[in-house]
Amino acid sequence: MTVVTPQIDVHLGQDDLERELRADVLAGLRSTPKRLPPKWFYDDRGSELFDEITRLPEYYLTRREREILYSEAATLARLTDADTLVELGSGTSEKTLLILDALHGRGSLNRYVPFDVSEATLRCAAQRIAERYPGVAVHAVVGDFSRHLELLPIGGRRIVAFLGSTIGNLYPKERARFLQSLRETMTPNDRLLLGTDLMKDRQRLEAAYNDAAGVTAAFNLNILSVMNQALDANFDPQGFEHVARLDTANDWIEMMLRSREKQTVRLKALEVTATFEDGEEMRTEISTKFRASLAKEELATAGFEIERWWTDSHDDFALSVSRPRSVGSS
Ligand code: SAH
Ligand code: AVI
Repeated sequence: MTVVTPQIDVHLGQDDLERELRADVLAGLRSTPKRLPPKWFYDDRGSELFDEITRLPEYYLTRREREILYSEAATLARLTDADTLVELGSGTSEKTLLILDALHGRGSLNRYVPFDVSEATLRCAAQRIAERYPGVAVHAVVGDFSRHLELLPIGGRRIVAFLGSTIGNLYPKERARFLQSLRETMTPNDRLLLGTDLMKDRQRLEAAYNDAAGVTAAFNLNILSVMNQALDANFDPQGFEHVARLDTANDWIEMMLRSREKQTVRLKALEVTATFEDGEEMRTEISTKFRASLAKEELATAGFEIERWWTDSHDDFALSVSRPRSVGSS
């Protein structure tokens, strides 16, 4: 069978990204405390570093989710009989192979739609998957899952997968909006496959975001290089320290960059100067750790009905399958 070149739709080109980065950085540096949205971690270097994170001994999330997929992918394929797998924030699509294999083995798979903000990573993954599954249409979409869900291809029986607990990187209000918008794009034939990392003891959680090899620190600090390159800024990565800690009031790990001294940074492209006090922290990411009750409640509020709730053998991570609740039912 011949390998068909992936179709790639780009809804976020270089100009759009630069415009949005400018707006996010301006707003983020002006807010108190300072903060940046985590989607800016994922330039080529950031995507590579995330990939390294998934293999760290302390970062249990990827291994636990893979364990669930390994044991439940065949059930998922049978349950959904899906012909299309859409994947939000697909990255390198590594764990996805378990789902694709199960659907392909069943003979139902026609189409894979990886969707990510990081174009280079997406292109690479799309090409690899097109080669691995000749005869399956690979239709990659470069976009922002907080804004472009309605641009995803529809039709057929779709699984919309959102793995890795990336949903936990959204703030509660953003999550509610995201799930509601996603629900609106789904038909009764579609199913949502959602990965959520579960609350556990502080020590393990903080270790997962403060690995001994310093990869998570490099990932966090890389956001400064992203701004240096794109905004002609002069952040000195040595002037900031990686901090990650559990916030028990909000049930999330927060990642910060802490200024090691009082310093002033110039962002030429924005024509602004930002001052950081000694010890001042800028929040770069939250990573929510869900109690099962919260994840279930948020799905129900957005109009989903949970069909399966799977956890790994350590109860560290959950993967749920949900159907959009039909209008009128409660
Ligand atoms: N799903 C993979 C990758 C998780 S890393 C896994 O489970 O291992 C998070 C991924 O989401 C990255 O590939 C990043 O580029 C992408 N991403 C982050 N914010 C995004 C956004 N707003 N819209 C689309 N993709 C986003
Ligand atoms: C992508 N996301 C689910 C990761 C997480 O665990 O919140 C990103 C990450 N940040 C630090 N390490 C990994």
